[in-house]
Formats: sequence, structure tokens, C-alpha cells
Amino acid sequence: MATDDDDTINLASIHSLEEIEVVAREKLSEVAYAYYAGAAGRERTHERNRLAWEAIPIWHRVMVDVARRSTATTLLNAPLSAPILAAPTALHKMAHPDGELATVRACGSRGIGMVLSSLATTSVEEVCRAAKGPVHFQIYIGPDRGFVRELVARAIAAGVCALQLTVDAPVWGLRSREMKTGFRVPEGMSLANLQGLGASVPRDHTGVGIGGALGWTISASLTWRDLEWLCEISSVPVLVKGICRADDAQTALRAGAAGIVVSNHGGRQLDGAPATAESLPRVAEAVAHRVPVIVDGGIRSGADMFRALALGATAVQVGRPILYGLAAAGEAGVARAIDLLVEDFDRTMALAGCPLVGGITRDFLDPSRG
Ligand SMILES: Cc1cc2nc3c(=O)[nH]c(=O)nc-3n(C[C@H](O)[C@H](O)[C@H](O)COP(=O)(O)O)c2cc1C
Repeated sequence: MATDDDDTINLASIHSLEEIEVVAREKLSEVAYAYYAGAAGRERTHERNRLAWEAIPIWHRVMVDVARRSTATTLLNAPLSAPILAAPTALHKMAHPDGELATVRACGSRGIGMVLSSLATTSVEEVCRAAKGPVHFQIYIGPDRGFVRELVARAIAAGVCALQLTVDAPVWGLRSREMKTGFRVPEGMSLANLQGLGASVPRDHTGVGIGGALGWTISASLTWRDLEWLCEISSVPVLVKGICRADDAQTALRAGAAGIVVSNHGGRQLDGAPATAESLPRVAEAVAHRVPVIVDGGIRSGADMFRALALGATAVQVGRPILYGLAAAGEAGVARAIDLLVEDFDRTMALAGCPLVGGITRDFLDPSRG
């Protein structure tokens, strides 16, 4: 829901995700903006993500009837108006008081999916009640397996249709912008899904910072056996988020994964990791259409979405642009960010000569392979 303040923004006059970020930056505190915008190390992987998509030319086909076209698709049997999910990102109430509820309502009104972070500031029950489209729940496996088991049961009971296990965080990346601005989980904000579960979870998360507050959610000793365990205890499909290598994708499938999310956490973990545009084709080839492959990191336009699908992705996830839309104007701001992406994707499909999502193939990036 938009607040009075949000009404002062003329969203129709915003025509790019970059403009939304400018508005968001003005509204956010320096600390919050640094948390959302920042990445690990020298932020080279973060930068590389965006540049790598932009560097791929799209070899458009002409004289194709594109008068009737559709951006619609399905993901794990769920219909989507376009192949997009909001990526799991923490602490939406830091961007806007309506937090994750605004995000899920905007995703629902636009017919796309949402992945709820386990570090959300709204409960999974509230988010699922407000959802109109598919909701995935992102989890980490920390040292307390009883806690993970309870959290999984709770998310499934709430109605999530898939889990995304994040595997690129054995430890947290060193994020210098957060350290410089002295990031802390803001006073009065709680990680709603981590309350009241498991003895090892501190009740009070405020004022202890990302390392202190969230350190107990992850484990440096995770192995494929833990993925097998999660697949055993989950009655919904488990996707594995944070894969960049073909061999890891193969192993994940053998361990029971029902989907792969090619991701480097938006450059927030290993600085030096390849751009996801570089790792996606290898992973997609290894997966060979056995399960969906989702990709995130630096997707900022409909052309980037088109490139991702041409390289083998079933759908994309979008992180920061959703947060900036939320900060700029709550639910309406998120909806505007989604609209900009979908309108551009539709226009790209028309201009590339490809009226259906299923027709977006590698040939558009490399006609010699056709
Ligand atoms: C502020 C912020 C918080 C994030 N929190 C999480 C999280 O809680 N769990 C997770 O798996 N990924 C998290 N991510 C990573 C995103 O899911 C996603 O991989 C990344 O944002 C995609 O890159 P993009 O922001 O360039 O679109 C976060 C990213 C950002 C920017």
C-alpha cells in the first residue's frame, strides 16, 4: 500500500529502472542504501553481472509475424505472465513500512512469482495469504537442523510451492559498504520467520549487525549430504541457489534438486566469481532441460531477460530493482519496476522476431549454431 509520501511520486514519468534507483536512493538512509546496493570485495562480480548481459548481441530475425505474441510461461507447473520472480532479498521493511507484503501484492497484481527470503521482515504466513502467484521460500541451512526442519514445515504449511536452498554462503562475503556505514538490523525490526523456532536462535536481532545477527543462519560445513537431507524432509520441490559450475549442477540433481538457480548472490559473496551470463550456458547444457534453470544477477532490462532465456534459463530473478521500486513507492513502485521489465521484454521479443517465450533459443545469440 502506498503511503502519502509515495503519492508525491509520479511513477508514470519514470521510464527506466535506473530512474527508480535514483528515487530510492533519495528516500533511503545512507546505511540502508549501502546495504541494498553494496556487494562483496571490490564489487567486480556485481559489476561484471550487468556488463556481461549487455555485451551479448541479439541477432534479430526479420519478417516474422509478431502481431500476436505472449510473454507468458510456466515454472514448475505454475503459470506466470512473464518469466520473472522477485529474488529473495532480506529486510524489505527497511525499504518501506509495508515490506514484503507490498512486494508480494505487486508481484501478484502483475502475475509474476516471488521468492521470500528467510531473512524477511514479514512472516511467511502473511506473505502467502496476500499472494496471488507462486511463492518460493529461500532458506539457509544453519547448524541447528531441528530449527531448519521446523522452518521448512512452517513454510510448506503456509503454502509455499518450492524451496530455494542458498548454497553460496558458507560464510558471509566481506561487504565493505556495509562495514563502512556500520550496518545494523534496524531497531524494532524483526526477522519474522526466525522468531520462536529452535533454541539456538537469539530472540532479539536488533543492533547486532549483519555478522552478529545473521551469522547463526549459515554453516561453513554444509555438503551435498545436507541437500539430500533437505530434499528428503521437504514435500515441495527444492531448488538450489548459487550454482555457477556444470559439475555442481549435475551433483545437485543427483542429490534430488528439482531446479537450479544460477546465481552469485548479486556479487555479494565471492568477488571474482563469473558473471551469471557466463556460467548460465554451462549449467543449462549440463542440466539439459531435466529441471528448470533460473538465473539472477544484473538483470536490468527485457533484453537481459531475452538473453537469459536464449542461454537456457526458464525464468529470471530480479533483486535490487525490486527493492528500489519498494523504496521509491511501496507496492506501486514494485509494480512499476515489474511493468518496465515486462514491457521491455515484450518489445524485445517483437523486435527480435520471436512471438513466444518457448521460441527464444540460442540461435538468437549465435546464428551460426542454428
Ligand atoms: C539487499 C540484498 C539482500 C539479499 N538477501 C538475500 C537472502 O536473504 N537470501 C538469498 O539467497 N539471496 C539474497 N540476496 C541475493 C538475491 O537473491 C539475488 O541473488 C541477487 O540480488 C540478484 O542480483 P541483482 O540484485 O543484481 O538482481 C540478496 C541481495 C540483495 C541485493
